[in-house]
Amino acid sequence: MEERNRTRLTWSLGALIAAGVLAGVVGLVEVAGGFDTAATHPFPQPATWLVHRTMIDSVKWRAQSVSPPPKFTEPQVMAGFRDYDADCAMCHGAPGVGRQPWVAGMDPPPPYLLDAANRWRPEELYFIVSEGVKMTGMPAWRKALPKDEIWNIVAFLEAMPRTTAADYARLRATYGPGAPIFTQPPKGPPAFSPAGSELNQGAVPGVAAQTAPPARSRPAPGAP
Ligand code: HEC
Repeated sequence: MEERNRTRLTWSLGALIAAGVLAGVVGLVEVAGGFDTAATHPFPQPATWLVHRTMIDSVKWRAQSVSPPPKFTEPQVMAGFRDYDADCAMCHGAPGVGRQPWVAGMDPPPPYLLDAANRWRPEELYFIVSEGVKMTGMPAWRKALPKDEIWNIVAFLEAMPRTTAADYARLRATYGPGAPIFTQPPKGPPAFSPAGSELNQGAVPGVAAQTAPPARSRPAPGAP
C-alpha cells in the first residue's frame, strides 16, 4: 500500500516536471521568435497533411447537425453564381477562370472547387462556407451573408461540376463579373464596416448601397 502510493506519487511528479519543462521550452522558442510564421515557409508535408485531414474529419462530424433543403432550385443556382463570382472565384477560380496570382502567397493555397460537390455533401459544404477554416484564410461567411445566400452558394457549388467554361462565361455576360452581393443586408450589426468598399457605393443600379448604422454617440465623460 505504502509502496504503491509512493510509486504513483513519483510518476505524477515526473509527469508534472516533464510537462513543465516542455511548456518552458515551447515558451522560450516562442519568445525568442523561434517559430517561423512566414507563409513562404509552409509546414513540412506530413504536418500539412495532418492539418488538412483534421479539417476534413472535423467538418464531417460537425456538419451532421445541418439539414440541407430537399432540392435546389434554378433561381438559387443563379443567385449562388453571383455570390460565388463576387466572393469566391478570386481565391478558388471557376470553370475557365484562374485564381488570382496572389493566392500563390497563401499557406495553404485555396484549392479549385470544380469538383468540390463530388467530395463533400451539401451540408458539409454549407458548414465549411458558413464557419470558415481556422488558420487558413478561408473566411466564415456567416459573418457577412445570411443563411439563405450561403445555401444559394451551395446550390451553385452543386451545379459547378456540370458547368462548362462556356456556361460560366455566359453567366458572367448575363450578370456581369463580380456582381455585387448583399441583395439583402445580413441581420444584426455588421461584423465589419466596409467603408469605402464598392459595397458602400451602390455602384450598380438596382442594388441598394450598404450603409453601416451610425456609431452610437457616447455621452461626454461626466455627463449625467
Ligand atoms: C481569401 C481566399 C478565400 C476566399 C475569398 C474564399 N476561400 Fe474557400 N478556402 C480558402 C482556403 C485557403 C481554403 C483551404 C482550407 C484548408 O486547406 O483546410 C479554402 C477551402 C474551401 C473549401 C474546402 C475545399 C476542400 O475541398 O478542401 C470550400 C468548399 C470553400 N473554401 C468554399 C468557398 C466559398 C464558397 C467561398 C466564397 C463564398 C470561399 N471559399 C471564399 C480561401 C478562400
